[in-house]
Amino acid sequence: MCGIVGYVGGKEAYPIIIKGLKRLEYRGYDSAGVSIGNTKGIALLKQKGKVSDLEAYTEGREKSGSIGIGHTRWATHGVPNQVNAHPHLSGDGKLSLIHNGIIENYDSIKKALQSKGHIFNSDTDTEVLIHLIENIKNHEQVNLFESVRIALSEVIGAYAIVVMEEGVNNEFIAARKGSPLVIGVGRDEYYIASDASPIIEYTNEVVYLEDGEIARVNCEEVLEIKTITNKIITPYIQELKLSLDTIEKGGFSHFMLKEIYEQPKSILDTMRGRIDTESKEIKLGGISDYEQKIINADRIIIVACGTSWHAGLIGEYLLEDLARIPVEVEYASEFRYRNPIIRETDVVLAISQSGETADTLAALALAKQKGATVLGICNVVGSSIPRLTDGGIYTHAGPEIGVASTKAFTTQVVVLTLMSLRIAKQKGTLSNTNYHQLITQLELIPEKVERVLQTNDQIEKIAKQFKDVSNFLYLGRGYNFPVALEGALKLKEISYIHAEGYPAAEMKHGPIALIDADMPIVVIATKKGNYEKILSNIQEVKSRGGRLIAIVTEGDKTVKELADYCIEIPNCFEELTPLLSNIPLQLLSYHIALMRGCNVDQPRNLAKSVTVE
Ligand code: G6P
Repeated sequence: MCGIVGYVGGKEAYPIIIKGLKRLEYRGYDSAGVSIGNTKGIALLKQKGKVSDLEAYTEGREKSGSIGIGHTRWATHGVPNQVNAHPHLSGDGKLSLIHNGIIENYDSIKKALQSKGHIFNSDTDTEVLIHLIENIKNHEQVNLFESVRIALSEVIGAYAIVVMEEGVNNEFIAARKGSPLVIGVGRDEYYIASDASPIIEYTNEVVYLEDGEIARVNCEEVLEIKTITNKIITPYIQELKLSLDTIEKGGFSHFMLKEIYEQPKSILDTMRGRIDTESKEIKLGGISDYEQKIINADRIIIVACGTSWHAGLIGEYLLEDLARIPVEVEYASEFRYRNPIIRETDVVLAISQSGETADTLAALALAKQKGATVLGICNVVGSSIPRLTDGGIYTHAGPEIGVASTKAFTTQVVVLTLMSLRIAKQKGTLSNTNYHQLITQLELIPEKVERVLQTNDQIEKIAKQFKDVSNFLYLGRGYNFPVALEGALKLKEISYIHAEGYPAAEMKHGPIALIDADMPIVVIATKKGNYEKILSNIQEVKSRGGRLIAIVTEGDKTVKELADYCIEIPNCFEELTPLLSNIPLQLLSYHIALMRGCNVDQPRNLAKSVTVE
């Protein structure tokens, strides 16, 4: 949450920072601001609302200068307004700070500083931090680099920060703990950002700052990095493998729609190089060293949040069904605080698109500390979770920018399928025939997803009929139960319609009381597994006047007679159904949200990367 951008070099900083903030807006968008340094001092410009509101506000105002920092905010401490927006200034106005994270002990620091005469204008923890740095700088008579280092040793919490100083137009100081920061290395210039997307068009050489590291970024010198405990670190420059077109809309009206349509390709990318064309053997290099551990594990604990948690549930079905390993799926936020039993024979698998979700990261750190083998399934290469894990598998879905997760989910499920098949094969819990059939079917999924995407116009028409309702119920059984949860989550995230996902059979134990003509029900009734049982659930809905949208297998006649609307998906093995049945639900949410005038890519109050707990 919160996006950070900085630039120092020979170019005008403002346009670079504004462009970068727009790329990072998925991380937060309730207010934004910049500090630009020039010979006259620091121009501080902030505004409530989106980066475009900031742009409008800065129109005609002084903002020239070749050093600058910018921030797009997702409020934690203090309501979203202009005063609480970042950057924040020190008491004397000479230091300017942007921050992503939470300073947990800000209150005690604030009180101590107030007793020394510091006056605060905002309600933020960030303003406290810049006053603390100022206080150290003035009293200890040390430079900014050292002041920041000392201040951070007093701070409890998570942060990625960048600080600049009035009159010092060639240098800023950056540090991280718990929140990401990447430094782009150009010729006589540096960029800094929460992720690489603002940097990629200028340089592909980057340094990922590690937790507990602090950097002096001076455009006339080499990068200087040390730890907060004052140990010198040699910067490790890596080559970025991100291309610009993957982070742009490419003709689509929204990132979410683009990402829904990218799924055939992203699924292919996830499988690429991992299935031997001849032998059909699956190779997962990132976890091969831990394969025996997985095979012999007492259990696998999957930790995740949000959509990734839903993928985890499908993982549970797959791993138990195919590889016969007991699996528990935990909300990372609950797991980390409930004193869980973790044994050295456990494998803890974190699933996270961003690789930065604070709760997932903390749950994983706890498991690691207790001696479990920790693995990850992540999308963002080089993010914090992959760096903490013993091993892992990248989804390779490409950047996902829409806040509502779509292609990240399907590719997580693909990775879980590959992993389950590989382990099942090695463990001998799946016959050769079944293994080969499943792989062959899996390889057909991208083409089948293409076919599902062709139902878009039909789904748009259905959306028109339901755009004004207040509640939705999603039902599914077996592999399609997590899909029902995910479908409901998608709808509520972007259209603000209350939606619940339920295992279809549980409907009788509560939600059935809600069913009437005003309550649409989405039911996933594909022709495998519990088809007959779900038919009974459909009957129960119909006899209470509920309006039904059904996701069915191509050629289905029975459900068609009962449901008000049917969306067909190609026939496939039950284990692979979520990869198809989920797509119409993504499109349904997208169209309903659009028709209700919602901001599909940046839904209110949400952020893509939740780096605070
Ligand atoms: C936020 C996002 C969701 C995402 C969840 C977990 O809530 O809005 O789309 O599923 O975080 O994020 P992760 O990056 O760990 O998958």
